[in-house]
Amino acid sequence: MENDERNTTAAGQAERLRQLEYIRSVRKINDAYAAETGKKRKFYSLAMGCQMNGHDSEKLEGMLTEMGYEQTQTETEADFIIYNTCCIRENAELKVYGKLGALKHYKETQNPNAVIALCGCMTQQPTVLETLRKKYPHVDIVFGTFNLYKLPELTLTRMESGETVYDIWQEQKEIVEDVPSLRGHAYKASVNIMYGCDNFCSYCIVPYVRGRERSRTPEDILAEVRKLAADGVKEIMLLGQNVNSYGKKLEKPATFAGLLRQINEVEGIERVRFMTSHPKDLSDELIQAMAECDKVCKYLHLPVQSGSSEILRRMNRRYTRESYLELVRKVRAAMPGITLSTDIIVGFPGETEEDFQETLDVIRQARYSTAFTFLYSPRTGTPAAEMENQIPEDIAKERFNRMLDVLNPIVHEVHEEQVGNILEVFVEKISRQDSGIVSGRADNNMLVHFPGASECIGQTIPVRIVENKTFYLIGERV
Ligand code: SAH
Ligand code: SF4
Ligand code: F3S
Repeated sequence: MENDERNTTAAGQAERLRQLEYIRSVRKINDAYAAETGKKRKFYSLAMGCQMNGHDSEKLEGMLTEMGYEQTQTETEADFIIYNTCCIRENAELKVYGKLGALKHYKETQNPNAVIALCGCMTQQPTVLETLRKKYPHVDIVFGTFNLYKLPELTLTRMESGETVYDIWQEQKEIVEDVPSLRGHAYKASVNIMYGCDNFCSYCIVPYVRGRERSRTPEDILAEVRKLAADGVKEIMLLGQNVNSYGKKLEKPATFAGLLRQINEVEGIERVRFMTSHPKDLSDELIQAMAECDKVCKYLHLPVQSGSSEILRRMNRRYTRESYLELVRKVRAAMPGITLSTDIIVGFPGETEEDFQETLDVIRQARYSTAFTFLYSPRTGTPAAEMENQIPEDIAKERFNRMLDVLNPIVHEVHEEQVGNILEVFVEKISRQDSGIVSGRADNNMLVHFPGASECIGQTIPVRIVENKTFYLIGERV
């Protein structure tokens, strides 16, 4: 078995070297273009969807930069446009089609040589591929979630052949490490600890488009975290669809609790966050590790989805209303002052008014500082899309609004508790509205704005909270 693991790594390394060759070839072409025309080719990159996609886009951007393109935030001056798509809800897909329509016009009227690339979760669905072939032939390169690192090869193929390049895989072959990456922030970074998902919640498309769960080895993860720390990064966000089941299937099994403890020891790192934590796998060992690790932020995203045990059963979440609330109690007992956030779906098939009331009740009991709330959206190929009793949109929307009427006052109260307190704020950026204001997050993940300048960025600064704006706080330096 050891051999398998070594072979996989060797295959991954060989693939990485192969792609570096393609990077060099594309760079030569782009450099020649720049020498001839006096301007560098530009790329525009858009990540849609979750933090996984955001992080994947950092890698796409890293590869494009190495290939000699320069990043632009103006789509209509780009020579290479890449959308990293999401299909978690129908809206996400509609948005992509809308934008592709606009790009057709851009290519026809402004830049016929622009290359349009599409990748990410949406392209993994066979029906989408058909639609692209039929209705969006101006898309030049299409690839998926399993072969992201092949962008250099696909780009060169497109350049040399001038033909549309489709390359979608149905599963992961090897995990390719050390793909170049263009980090969005100087002081904080995301790190994948695992890919894919095995849970098959009945409403969710992710397992179909991201494949089975695969963990990276603790060695690879730690090496990456150390490298980031050496590069000045202070805050790490560990990413996985279900971090609580991290490492179970590794050759040498590891646990997420153990990984957190190791990362907590990395010099230079000041804060560690993670998402997402599935309630069914949140162990006592992990709660203890969180409580004991000083760098691990006292904030937990614990998606409940619904407060009704019957709905949870049909969602295939494998916990009940009671076991969820018990977890909340345990977490709060181990870490007084911790903030909790959640994801909630309203209008799941068969949801009754009583089921919905139970969701409201969980919101009241768990007292979230933030909640990401969604209207159920049927996804082709998932079991829930086939269930009877799909909830009419007007009823779902009406429930959704009633939920916000319960949720928002609680979010306000939870933030209000901080007024007068001093919070340690890790400053991320200058406010877009006011250049005299900086913003960042407290350990408990609350967003704080306070007067400051660019020197504050990347620093952790004690701030007294003076005002509560429900979804964020206003403070002043002490
Ligand atoms: N792995 C994470 C969730 C990733 S998807 C977890 O298990 O918590 C992010 C959120 O999108 C989910 O938590 C869920 O609330 C929402 N979501 C997923 N599929 C959806 C669908 N078909 N309709 C509406 N919301 C959905
Ligand atoms: Fe989707 Fe469930 Fe996996 Fe989260 S745990 S990605 S909701 S299937
Ligand atoms: Fe994320 Fe959307 Fe894919 S939520 S995993 S980008 S379907």
